[in-house]
Amino acid sequence: MKKTVTTFQKAKEEGRKITMLTAYDYSTAKLVDASGIDSILVGDSLGNVILGYEDTISVTMEDMIHHGAAVARGAKNALVVIDMPFMSYQTSVYDAVVNAGRLMKEGRAGAVKLEGGRSVCPQIKSITEAGIPVVAHLGLTPQSINAFGGFKVQGKSEAAAKKLIEDALAVQEAGAMALVLECVPAKLAALVTEKLTIPTIGIGAGNKCDGQVLVYQDLLGMFTDFVPKFVRQFANVGQVMAEAFAAYDRAVKDGSFPAEEHTYQIEDEVIEKLY
Ligand code: KIV
Repeated sequence: MKKTVTTFQKAKEEGRKITMLTAYDYSTAKLVDASGIDSILVGDSLGNVILGYEDTISVTMEDMIHHGAAVARGAKNALVVIDMPFMSYQTSVYDAVVNAGRLMKEGRAGAVKLEGGRSVCPQIKSITEAGIPVVAHLGLTPQSINAFGGFKVQGKSEAAAKKLIEDALAVQEAGAMALVLECVPAKLAALVTEKLTIPTIGIGAGNKCDGQVLVYQDLLGMFTDFVPKFVRQFANVGQVMAEAFAAYDRAVKDGSFPAEEHTYQIEDEVIEKLY
């Protein structure tokens, strides 16, 4: 059954955990969808894990639409959330609504996600009023990496923790349907989760959030440029892939692939006439 905003809200009310995983292409989206995961995030982390950038700053609307639409074609049940890339909503409320609309119309998103607290509440309100569900994102917000001065846990001081709680309440008030909390101390994330009526989705925010999200390449052990403390590698697919690629390389070079069963035939009398 297709998951919606209501599924998220009901899960929070009934104390059922929400699962979210990233995907950036059709084949992966189909696998994630078939596994029963509630929501697929087409994260702007695609800048890192798909496009090889150092950060998410260079990701464009076109990137998000291109990958989002591919994921949406593969996701029959999961709620597809597409990230709004850097500078697609910070510039003005007008830009935010137009770009969120493009992610819905061209990317076929079920919801959009944007980073920030009180400062982006006018954007959250207007996008929501346009009929587009918004997931907010607080804590370590990678689009502000240059302002943070690196990938660091957020909300550790009393002032920072208070600001995070205020921002969380503000995005809820503005109409956000859920809140991603990234790299936040577990006890602070638990407190925010208690205070909010909308679900929290944690990544590096402990197990008291209403749900969890991971980047699928991290979960599968496919991306090893940087492995954050909060990642559990549920499989070592990276090694399986590397071994398969090497086996293919050997098989082609030693002539054992393609074998008879991979080969199309032609009648001898036809081929003989061509010599
Ligand atoms: O871009 C992304 O994948 C994200 C998750 C890390 C929450 O925003």
